[in-house]
Amino acid sequence: MSKRVLVTSALPYANGSVHLGHLVEYIQTDVYVRFRRACGDEVTYVCAADSHGTPIEVNAAKAGMAPKAFVEKYRREQHEDFKRFLVEFSTYYTTDSPENEKWAHRVYQALKARGLIYKKTVEQLYCEVDRRFLPDRFVKGTCPSCGKGGQYGDVCENCGTTYDPRELKDPRCVICNTSPVVRTSEHAYVNLRKVEPDIRRWVEAEGHLEPGVREQVKGWLADLQDWAITRDAPYFGFPVNDPDFPGKFLYVWVDAPIGYLSSAEHFFAEEAPADRRLAPGEFEASYLAEGAPSRLEHFIGKDILRFHAVFWPAMLQATGLKTPDRMAVHGHLTVNGEKMSKSRGTFVTAKTYLDAGLDPQLLRYYYAANLGPGVSDLDLSLEEFRNRINADLANNVANLASRVFALLGRLREPLDGKDANPEEAIVEAARAALHLARGAYAALEYREVVRLASDVASLCNRRMQEAKPWEEPGSPGSRALLFSVVKALRAIAVVLAPILPVFGEQLATAFGQPDPRAWPKDLDPFAGPPVVARNRPPQVPRLDAKQVAKLIAAPAEPGPQPVSKAPSPAETATRATARPVAPPPVGVIQYEDFAKVELRVGQVKGAEPVTKADKLLKLSVDVGEPEPRTIVAGIAQAYPDPQQLVGKRIVVVANLAPRPLRGITSQGMLLAAGEPPNLQVVTVGDAIAPGTRVK
Ligand code: 2FM
Ligand code: ZN
Repeated sequence: MSKRVLVTSALPYANGSVHLGHLVEYIQTDVYVRFRRACGDEVTYVCAADSHGTPIEVNAAKAGMAPKAFVEKYRREQHEDFKRFLVEFSTYYTTDSPENEKWAHRVYQALKARGLIYKKTVEQLYCEVDRRFLPDRFVKGTCPSCGKGGQYGDVCENCGTTYDPRELKDPRCVICNTSPVVRTSEHAYVNLRKVEPDIRRWVEAEGHLEPGVREQVKGWLADLQDWAITRDAPYFGFPVNDPDFPGKFLYVWVDAPIGYLSSAEHFFAEEAPADRRLAPGEFEASYLAEGAPSRLEHFIGKDILRFHAVFWPAMLQATGLKTPDRMAVHGHLTVNGEKMSKSRGTFVTAKTYLDAGLDPQLLRYYYAANLGPGVSDLDLSLEEFRNRINADLANNVANLASRVFALLGRLREPLDGKDANPEEAIVEAARAALHLARGAYAALEYREVVRLASDVASLCNRRMQEAKPWEEPGSPGSRALLFSVVKALRAIAVVLAPILPVFGEQLATAFGQPDPRAWPKDLDPFAGPPVVARNRPPQVPRLDAKQVAKLIAAPAEPGPQPVSKAPSPAETATRATARPVAPPPVGVIQYEDFAKVELRVGQVKGAEPVTKADKLLKLSVDVGEPEPRTIVAGIAQAYPDPQQLVGKRIVVVANLAPRPLRGITSQGMLLAAGEPPNLQVVTVGDAIAPGTRVK
């Protein structure tokens, strides 16, 4: 694998603020970039504002601004927001640049020279008031299929039918609400069918797309439509400059991906550190030419896959440039299980997050803990978010570090090379985590990375509970354990640094260990500098529900309800449940009865037999609270080796009144199935953080 990589994230429209949905992609990419840099690769991470198109032109006019000033305002604001979330682009340029115009014309001319462009006359809706052709999203009307009003010109959100805007009933211009007319216009089309075999070769090649994504793209190839690449004035974009298409502009989706190349060219020519500067010709030879000694990797969302996996390779191939080596596609963000929505207050901007006083690294961690290489959506459940941060970062890692730090202060002799006789189990776990996390990062399996780091910390916590080094910190055993834990924390810092750059650095340097943002292949965390208590390790204050709730704006007050003659299906359903119902049969409970039982996920931190009670085990269980709970359970016969339970995520009845059992107060009950000895505690998967409600 080449060591020189050009990595991109999709270019956000310079038309609005960064929100948490955007951040999934930029955080996913930034983590990857940091990982590869830590491994010693030379990575250039390119992004830019996507500055062209009708919506930008219309919104700039509404704001009373020239489009250039309008996009520059958003470009700057977006760049600042990304930096606050520690997303470190090499450059955040714009598609409205001279470099991009040059490249866009080069690609257009290449398509033309290959005979791939033809002219077609098309009918489109035209607004005589605004004197413009209306893109699909600038027309609303009644769906020709189901009759639902207020639908856009391309697809009905009610019945899912796609159509031509001319088919809408009672169409209206969204700018001025008048009825458009039909007019003809001539446009440039790309004959994609002619190059279908070339696109298919790229799609099918190993490593470019995940298998599921590849199948989806092949579906489009089977029914390939030609692509209209010009638009009429008024338009904010590049004129085509082709006498065959006078007065036409290049469609925004032509020059947007070209923006990846032109922004990179700009970076190397003008922004790179002196020793990495490249003139445009050198840049092209090193990064873009077919066979160039570098990789091109794109990160995108699933909604823009067709542009990237069908049109973009065709454009690059026609221009004789190298095609992408990898296209990583992610899903969308939901908040509390639903699509983000302004009316529900769940459209959370980067600014709202920061104003809630939350550390951006916490969002990076939560996203990483839930991200894999697939396209499934990622849910930001506020409860999960809080539990995950409190259980993993506050309790498991930060608390461990500060306990060890305090103990180092009690040692008369500092820990040094003489203690370099670390505990075997910890050494093995930390080395394995470092090794496996490399593969997991490369495969974009970040949730696995997080699990690996968490497991090492859990093991250290378990050993601390068992060995109780606070009783005699200076004993050889305690010294060896403390040494082992600090070095394991160094490994954790290295593993987590791409996700938590500041936390990782502070965690390692607190104990005099090197900056963890360097991850050579042969890194041995147990070698290297002696352990010292240099600075207090980073704290992660526990999140409380109130703070997290600040992310969600209060939903807007419902306005006056329109008078409707017939009740909607939703109203009918509500009314039906409000009607008095017959009492349930004996033995059947109401939902409210069930809801009284608070079931939570707990992670077993310790398990030991209870003296003189051979059926009981005493467990220490983290249920997402500041201190683990003690739970006494009659499961000893099924678990002759109680250590088997440590690390398991179990289900606990969390609101059961405490009760004494053999002189120990049990603070809850756990769920189990079967009878001893054939009994098993009920467990949940690793992805669910301690404290999460089971419903
Ligand atoms: O969908 C979008 O937000 C586009 N602005 C993404 C463009 S990505 C690339 F092609 F520029
Ligand atoms: Zn209009």
